[in-house]
Amino acid sequence: MNRFLLIACLLTTPVFAQKTTTKPIDVDAEFAFAAQQYGRMMAANPDTTKFPQSTNPDGSLNTRKSDWWCSGFFGGSLWYIYERTKQPAMRDAAHRWTMAVAKEQDNTGTHDLGFMLYCPFGNGYRLTRNPAYKSVMLTGAKSLATRFHPDYGVIKSWNKFRDKYDYPVIIDNMMNLEFLFWAARESGDKSLYNIAVSHADNTIKNHFHPNYSGYHVICYAPGGKVLAKLNHQGYSDESAWSRGQSWALYGYTVMYRETKDRKYLEQARHIADFILNNPNLPADKIPYWDFNAPNIPTEERDASAGAIAASALLELSTFGGPSAANYYQSAVQMLQSLSGPAYRARLGENNNFILTHSVGAKSLKSEVDTPLIYADYYYLEGLLRYDALRKKKKRG
Ligand code: GLY
Repeated sequence: MNRFLLIACLLTTPVFAQKTTTKPIDVDAEFAFAAQQYGRMMAANPDTTKFPQSTNPDGSLNTRKSDWWCSGFFGGSLWYIYERTKQPAMRDAAHRWTMAVAKEQDNTGTHDLGFMLYCPFGNGYRLTRNPAYKSVMLTGAKSLATRFHPDYGVIKSWNKFRDKYDYPVIIDNMMNLEFLFWAARESGDKSLYNIAVSHADNTIKNHFHPNYSGYHVICYAPGGKVLAKLNHQGYSDESAWSRGQSWALYGYTVMYRETKDRKYLEQARHIADFILNNPNLPADKIPYWDFNAPNIPTEERDASAGAIAASALLELSTFGGPSAANYYQSAVQMLQSLSGPAYRARLGENNNFILTHSVGAKSLKSEVDTPLIYADYYYLEGLLRYDALRKKKKRG
């Protein structure tokens, strides 16, 4: 998400083969479409206390309040659209939908403050340097840090799981560490950096199968003892829930960017290889909602898992190594699939979301084969990363 760091990295990365055999994605056209689609979204839903999330079973727009983990993605997406289109109306809208989440800076009841605050405020600050955004984020990072307890060594995700576990940690939580790195740099508070490292190290230790697929939920006891390794949104405790694998891939790619510790690079590469070499990854490289879902190939796809993985793989490809070209080409193939008619909505359809065919939680019968706001967010981010890499390649 921190594209300043990504661009810096691109400028120092050796050139590697980045050839793809198919037509390049028309990034300008994708962003022009996104601007129109989200313009319609805001015309239909102007209330900034109702954050676009998905589609309800009756076909209507599903919205959530600011305390929902996804509240930052709409503002964050608007910033990406503004970044590309430079439309003043997009900048104004991005500001409005960003500030609408500001009150969550004091929320100590969620581990999702990275998603909620860093996606909108982080992008807004990167693009505008508005000091009000920085202040919200520094407070928010401190709120997030209250969920870290040294005796456990990890940030607590939920307050309870299955009525009996008091310290559950979900793989998704790897996505909130980037926010802590930013806050550590900006504030000089090294403890935020140390929390991120401790969380990532314990997650490597406890969250993965020997084949580098990740569990969804690890339940901890004091002293960091693991009580149980469980599932919530995937098919089963031992299955590989697709979005969870994408969160892990993205999270360890960020860990390497932020620390330059090669163990995180190795972890990210192993996760990428699990995803890309998986016999259940379809030819268009958009995963089914779980790599072990029982009825593949008739299971639903999860475009969000594809979009998150594509964005992460593009960054991972910049770190070189024997698989860099494969990571790049696979990411481009994912973005090509998502920008094609199988996944990309048509203007005015899909409740004005950009992508179709995501799965929130089939195990909970929730958001199955629907649009999801975070699929859009990581798709737009992936397109910007793709474009930056292509421009670098042209420069040689
Ligand atoms: N963080 C929740 C999810 O990925 O659905």
